[in-house]
Amino acid sequence: MTDKSKIAVLISGAGTNMAALVYASRIGDCPYEVVLVASNDAQAPGLALAAAEGIATFAHPHKGMTREAHDAAMEDAVRQAGADYIVLAGYMRILSDGFVERWQGRMLNIHPSLLPLYKGLDTHARAIAAGDTHGGTSVHLVTPELDAGEVLAQVRVPIVADDTPESLAERVKLAEHQLYPRAVAECVSRWRDPAALLARLRALALALPESDERESHGSPGFRVGGEKTGKYFAYFADQHHGTPHIALLARTGSMDELLNLVESQPDVYFKPAYYGASGWVGIILNRPGVDWDEVAEWLHRSWRSVAPKRLTRMMDIADEF
Ligand code: GRF
Repeated sequence: MTDKSKIAVLISGAGTNMAALVYASRIGDCPYEVVLVASNDAQAPGLALAAAEGIATFAHPHKGMTREAHDAAMEDAVRQAGADYIVLAGYMRILSDGFVERWQGRMLNIHPSLLPLYKGLDTHARAIAAGDTHGGTSVHLVTPELDAGEVLAQVRVPIVADDTPESLAERVKLAEHQLYPRAVAECVSRWRDPAALLARLRALALALPESDERESHGSPGFRVGGEKTGKYFAYFADQHHGTPHIALLARTGSMDELLNLVESQPDVYFKPAYYGASGWVGIILNRPGVDWDEVAEWLHRSWRSVAPKRLTRMMDIADEF
């Protein structure tokens, strides 16, 4: 594969997960490469390992800095390295909301518990004290709320007789080293996969009242309003007419709005062939970090613009509560 996703790994300590990510990236046709290992601690042992592997490193102690200023220094290094994703691997810092929001969908973390159980610290001690049969580890997307983003993958690790937090932590790490590279590979690949994108779009479109799916010129389309009088409110376009885009086509309010969107955010919007002439905008889905709430809003808005009055009236009433 030539166009590998670029990941920056942030560490504070041993960096064994970082090492697992690096070695996995060297095997076969791994869809990511590690372009930077960065730390808030210049002494973090993982930095030396990364340097010995020929990977760019960056260290910036946080002492005496505000959270925002330290985050900005780290983010700057990540951007300079050209990273598309930030992968936290034992990075012992709470990140500022702005930093996290700018990387939403493109920042991952590994947490040593079966989330949503045991967010925060001392996860192994808490699992043992609770008498749990299993501990484990979770890879999740990072959101401003600590350890609360979408869980992408998990693995369970049994708790055995006489386990201490240390002995359990050691076995959980073995599991982490298998899990993290796989979860990262999967995450960086999923935005390229038309079937995965269509499945996600379909789930959102068909959740709207009285919508159904019907093919139109070979593409999946979504309609509202019943068998005979139904109208299309969305299409799924997979690299049509020579564009590289996999996209949702949705209705805008006017040609002015459409052209403004395309001009101001060309990475997100484009004017599709044929449909563009009637005010449909293309919203690009095959890019990292798509905001699916925004996609849902486009669907809702487009649905609303063609849905029969009896349905929109019901929604208006519901919205008032
Ligand atoms: C891992 O157990 C991870 O789950 C947690 O911090 C630890 C990092 O270990 N977030 P290492 O530095 O990768 O060895």
